[in-house]
Amino acid sequence: MKIHILSEAMASRIAAGEVVERPASVVKELMENSLDAGATEIFVWLEKSGTVVIRITDNGEGMTAEDLALAVERHATSKLREDDDLFRITTLGFRGEALPSIGSIAKMDISSRPASSSIGTKLTVDGGNRGEIHAAAAAVGTTIEIRDIFYNTPARRKFLKAPATELSHVCDVFNRLALANPQVHFRLQHDGRTVADYLSVQQGRDRLQQVLGVDVAKGLKPFTFTQDEVRVSGFLSTAPTSFPNARYLFTFVNRRYVRDKVITHALLHGYDTLLMKGQYPAVVLFLEVPFAEVDVNVHPAKYEVRFRRQSDVHETVSRSVRSALQRDAKAPGAVVAMSGYAASPGEWRPAYSFAPAADPTVRESILGHSIHEYPNVESMPSRDVTFTVPQNERPGRVGFFSSLTIHDQILGCYLVCSATDRLILIDQHAAHERIAFERLRHQLRANAVERQDLLIPQSVELSAGEMLMLQQKLAVMERHGFCLEPFGPSSFAIMSVPALLPEGDYTQLVRQMVAELAEVDTSARLRQHLEDRLATMACHSVIRANRKLGMEEMRALLCDLDQVEFATQCPHGRPVLVELSRDQLERMFKRIA
Ligand SMILES: Nc1ncnc2c1ncn2[C@@H]1O[C@H](COP(=O)(O)OP(=O)(O)O)[C@@H](O)[C@H]1O
Ligand SMILES: [Mg+2]
Repeated sequence: MKIHILSEAMASRIAAGEVVERPASVVKELMENSLDAGATEIFVWLEKSGTVVIRITDNGEGMTAEDLALAVERHATSKLREDDDLFRITTLGFRGEALPSIGSIAKMDISSRPASSSIGTKLTVDGGNRGEIHAAAAAVGTTIEIRDIFYNTPARRKFLKAPATELSHVCDVFNRLALANPQVHFRLQHDGRTVADYLSVQQGRDRLQQVLGVDVAKGLKPFTFTQDEVRVSGFLSTAPTSFPNARYLFTFVNRRYVRDKVITHALLHGYDTLLMKGQYPAVVLFLEVPFAEVDVNVHPAKYEVRFRRQSDVHETVSRSVRSALQRDAKAPGAVVAMSGYAASPGEWRPAYSFAPAADPTVRESILGHSIHEYPNVESMPSRDVTFTVPQNERPGRVGFFSSLTIHDQILGCYLVCSATDRLILIDQHAAHERIAFERLRHQLRANAVERQDLLIPQSVELSAGEMLMLQQKLAVMERHGFCLEPFGPSSFAIMSVPALLPEGDYTQLVRQMVAELAEVDTSARLRQHLEDRLATMACHSVIRANRKLGMEEMRALLCDLDQVEFATQCPHGRPVLVELSRDQLERMFKRIA
């Protein structure tokens, strides 16, 4: 016979492969169990990023000796009883897989005591082998200690990433659960140091501050929205705050953290043109739907869900975000005034205009959007005029920009130029951006970023996970022109920055770079990412104020553009120039059909 039934141990290890990918998965499963057990205190202790020890203590309902014996068996759960329960899951767990899976790939000690019992019990499972249950002294609640994860599956162990990366995954898991459960006290300790200690709070906003830090949290606005049986609530960033990746997107369905394409798409859709390509908002979004409307049993780690009425969910999430942004934009003091109008039923387009109080000489913050990036819709070209840049013609043609005839600068920011057969408009900001981008990238490549000390160091507040990450990457930051020094338990002081960056507030920039550090873990890719990030910043930070340029300055700008590759687009894909050919002009004046 070629077919045989797998041994129990082998079957568990295979199942474990789905549930336990890394220390962070263990932390997630155990913390979820603690929350399901009604704990109000959950303490996590790690050694060597969780690869040596993970210990989780809770004050939840605990387990009796009988329950403990069953808890480590496969498909043993207290959370499902009747068949129908599977379609109205209210707990975080339900598969009855975590404890046996973890027990099969590590050494696991569980001690537990329910409030009804005066003494606790203890059970050891070692690589799938169960020991005896002993009586043991224990506080009410449960402590589970996992040692030497993957010690018996070396192949899996090899897949673990650098300790800093594994630790940052744990921090992510920890923070997500903390965000969804503000009333629970969470503590995370690593190699004897307290990384995070989030005391119980009543308000979601307070937990937001604990987890994301005051700086990020203060930029987030609360919102709620209800439609039929779907309720959306949470906090979101309004323009001009944005981030280079989805690191600050936290989406929860019925208090379960998920990474759902529908929700993410819907919420980005809600931001519409407020975000530039490649930029993400910070959003903590709680979606509440009737339990029967969502299937959480589609992913072993339950990171994905399926909605019965997917398009309703999409619609509701988009609208919730949109209306929150509209409301915020109308609030007094908003820099960008924004009004939505229905072009056709169901269609919404923002119209932007500058608030009258905006100081035209202010420098744009290093981060995110400039108010200039959103032209007033009314002043946009009508649809039948095409503003295309013939890619094959313009870039790379030596001296193209310097060969143009300059007529004037109009509206404070456009250079009107012409070539023999066309009219060309150049956006002076986009052009400057492009040039700054190239210069900084050049310095980075040459490993010669010029630094400039700050007269007044700026302090940047970071979350616990970010602090750890940054501590280990100070040298990398320095190579990119940023010197940072520890400044209190949850901040760093920025001592110097690349000289090419203009004066301003660098805290958001550093925060973005830290986000990049956490995201990428090979040094080549990291380098690439940071280069792109910094160069983008150089480009964002160009002074955007409308400024009259003299003829010499205009000439110099065009000469600089000639030195740059692909000069026709700013690094964000905004065009540097638009042109109207003779044909187009003639068509516009109805000289030709
Ligand atoms: N920290 C804990 N406190 C109380 N009971 C727990 C705890 N962890 C696990 N259990 C019990 O062990 C059972 C099995 O846990 P697990 O393997 O994670 O499966 P699931 O969470 O899917 O039920 C749970 O259903 C629960 O009854
Ligand atoms: Mg569980």
